[in-house]
Amino acid sequence: MSNKLKWGILGTGMIAGKFAADLPKSNTGALVAAGSRTQESADRFAGEYGGKGVEGYEALVNDPEVQAIYNSLPNGLHHEWSIKAMRAGKHVLCEKPFALNVAEAEQMFAVSEETGMVLIEAFMYRAHPQTQKLIEMVRGGVIGDLKLIRSAFTFYKEPSMNDARYHPSQGGGAIMDVGTYCVNLTRQLAGSEPTEMQAIAHLYEGDGVDDYAAGMMRFGNDLLTTFTCGMTVYSDQGTYIAGTGGTIKINAFWFCEEGFTIIKDGKEEFVSVDEPRPLYAVEADAFAASVLGGAEPWMSKEDTLGNMRAMDELRASAGVPVE
Ligand SMILES: NC(=O)c1ccc[n+]([C@@H]2O[C@H](COP(=O)([O-])OP(=O)(O)OC[C@H]3O[C@@H](n4cnc5c(N)ncnc54)[C@H](OP(=O)(O)O)[C@@H]3O)[C@@H](O)[C@H]2O)c1
Repeated sequence: MSNKLKWGILGTGMIAGKFAADLPKSNTGALVAAGSRTQESADRFAGEYGGKGVEGYEALVNDPEVQAIYNSLPNGLHHEWSIKAMRAGKHVLCEKPFALNVAEAEQMFAVSEETGMVLIEAFMYRAHPQTQKLIEMVRGGVIGDLKLIRSAFTFYKEPSMNDARYHPSQGGGAIMDVGTYCVNLTRQLAGSEPTEMQAIAHLYEGDGVDDYAAGMMRFGNDLLTTFTCGMTVYSDQGTYIAGTGGTIKINAFWFCEEGFTIIKDGKEEFVSVDEPRPLYAVEADAFAASVLGGAEPWMSKEDTLGNMRAMDELRASAGVPVE
C-alpha cells in the first residue's frame, strides 16, 4: 500500500462503484476512503469495496491519508469539489463532462496551476490503448483524408427527477452526459477544433433537459461530422469514419470492449488491442503516471477546454435550458 497512490472517492453512486471495483486491478492505486452525504451510504460503499466510509465531502477532501480524489459527483458539483480538493492538496481525476461550462473549466485549471495539483478529465475511453491506436491510425492516414464522421451514444433509462441528469442546474441532458463523448472523439480524430457547429434537441416534457439531441460540426473546408445522443433511446454506440481511402466502422467503442474495423480496397481488417486491466484500472494507472511520474495527461487541458467550448455552443444552438 505504501508505494500506491491513495485514492478517495467523492460520492457513492453508480460510476463510483465501477471505479472502486476496478481499482484493485490497477498497478498503482489503492482505495482508502469514500465520502458521501450520509454516513450510511459511505459505510455501505466501504463494506462493498474497502477503505473507510467518510460522512461529508469536506471531510473526505481534507482526509490526510488521501492523495488523489476521484470526483464522481453530478456535473454541477465538479467545479466546487474539484477546487476544494486541490486547495486541500489533493490531485483530482474529475468525471466528464468536466464542468457546467468553459468558464468553470478555466477556473478549475487556474487552481490546478496555482496549487500544482494534477487535474484531468475522466474520459476513461481516451486512456485506453485501443482508442489511442485508433486516433494514431486515423491521423496517420490509414483511410486517407477524412471527409465524414458520424458518431452516436444513446442509452435507455427510465427518466427520473432523482437523477441529476434531468436537472438543468446540474448540467443535465444528453449532450452533456453522452454527446460529450461523440464531440470529444470527433475533435480528436479531426485533430483540430470545429469551425462551425449546430445542434437540435428534444426537450424532456417540453421545457426540461435535452433527453435526446443531434448535432453537426464542420472542421474547416474538408471534414463534415454529425452525432446523435440520447438518454431515452435504445442503445446505439456506433461511430463511422469515412475518408478518401477507406472507412472505419466501430460498433461499440466507448467502453473499449470492442475494437474497430478498417474497410479498404474491398478488404476488412479488425483491429483490437489486448489490455488485461479493466477500463477504470487503466485510467487510474494513467492518472498515477501523471501524478507520480510526471507523464503528460491523456486528456490535456486544451482538449478539455476545447470540448467544453464546443459543448457550450452546441447546447446554446439547441436551446437547451441552463441555470
Ligand atoms: N466515465 C464514465 O464511464 C461515466 C459513466 C457514468 C457517469 N459518469 C459521470 O459520473 C458522474 C456521476 O454519474 P453517476 O452515473 O455515477 O451518478 P449517480 O449514480 O447519480 O451518483 C452520483 C452521486 O453523487 C452524489 N450526489 C451529490 N449530490 C447529488 C444530487 N443532488 N443528486 C444526485 N446525486 C448527488 C451522490 O452520492 P452520495 O449520496 O454518496 O453523496 C450520488 O450517489 C457524472 O458526472 C457522470 O457524467 C461517467
